[in-house]
Amino acid sequence: MSIAWPLLLVATALCSCASSASASAGGCKFPAVFNFGDSNSDTGGFWAAFPAQQGPFGMTYFGGPAGRASDGRLVIDFIAQAMGLPLLSPYLQSIGSDYRHGANFATLASTALLPNTSLFVTGISPFSLGIQLNQLKEFRNRVLATNGDSGQLPRPDIFGNALYTIGIGQNDFTSNLGSLGVEGVKQSLPSVVNQISWTIQDLYNIGARNFMVFNMAPIGCYPAFLTELPHDSNDLDEFGCMKSYNSGVIYYNELLNNSLADVRKKLQDASIVYVDKHTVTLELFRYPNAHGLKYGTRACCGYGGGTYNFNQNVYCGNSKVVNGKTSTAEACGDPQNYVSWDGIHATEAANMKIASAVMSGSYSYPPFDHSKLCGS
Ligand SMILES: *[C@@H]1O[C@H](CO)[C@@H](O)[C@H](O)[C@H]1NC(C)=O
Ligand SMILES: *[C@@H]1O[C@H](CO)[C@@H](O)[C@H](O)[C@H]1NC(C)=O
Repeated sequence: MSIAWPLLLVATALCSCASSASASAGGCKFPAVFNFGDSNSDTGGFWAAFPAQQGPFGMTYFGGPAGRASDGRLVIDFIAQAMGLPLLSPYLQSIGSDYRHGANFATLASTALLPNTSLFVTGISPFSLGIQLNQLKEFRNRVLATNGDSGQLPRPDIFGNALYTIGIGQNDFTSNLGSLGVEGVKQSLPSVVNQISWTIQDLYNIGARNFMVFNMAPIGCYPAFLTELPHDSNDLDEFGCMKSYNSGVIYYNELLNNSLADVRKKLQDASIVYVDKHTVTLELFRYPNAHGLKYGTRACCGYGGGTYNFNQNVYCGNSKVVNGKTSTAEACGDPQNYVSWDGIHATEAANMKIASAVMSGSYSYPPFDHSKLCGS
């Protein structure tokens, strides 16, 4: 059975507040968003540090590469827009950034734990959660030192009123799956969720009070992992997703949910919302047709066709010489029909549906009223 979602048109704004510095005085409860995470919410940090991204990334909404691992907007973009705020500028982006309504510390390939490897060896970002937290602290110190004479910086009182969003852990989970397997990776998951909970407490200690923490999506349905990770056909469920890896994700999500419950007990005057992005994303993979999409476990931008249209040697936008001829992984002509953009990341179409479901408040614990985002 597919779930019917309330029709919530994110793009037409949940609130009518203008994107002005007086947003907090008007409809929107939160004047700023500070985000921590990985590629699922990176709005340009990684590509600011390590240029340059190529097309067809960004083709649907931005008309070209926009530092996002998608054809268009991410869930965090839709949330910012629904709050009447500008899209979040990456902390690492030195040109054209505007931090008056927050900053984004997320980078592609980031982990919650400090990495023991290098970007140039295994592709893991050096900007893990602890580094991102230090960046926020540095940002905050600089803002407090401005005494309100801020330019492109927020007002000094923003940190207590802002919404802090965190979506990280997927790379901690997936980067060792090939070598350790699900059972091996499970051993490290308690320290991953602890890292997230410590980050919340650390942020709380410098005045943060409102948190939204995203759980992990069902990576066992991702075309890239279906292609790369060892599994036998018995492991596929009726929707074509891998049961073993998805059960590891469910295990992780339970740990995260429980850990947040502990933090909530300690920090009683804070709002710590667990956002069940997993259920929403799984629903899209299982019943794409019920949500206006056509393809679940097939990548839009990839190479090789077949069930998954994914080849790890020819990643979206790249060209490689395969069997003596140059092959390029190009985008499909209809990304609006796909859940998966490049085999790992979601399309703008899927992100819009996920954001809309998330902001309906029905996929959160404690139940989250979207009027909290904008108090209209
Ligand atoms: C890296 O090594 C340190 C020290 O041994 C450890 O605390 C940390 O959890 C490791 N990180 C990962 C991602 O395994
Ligand atoms: C998360 O934990 C709470 C209890 O703290 C529980 O009521 C809720 O159902 C859990 N949510 C999910 C999605 O597991």
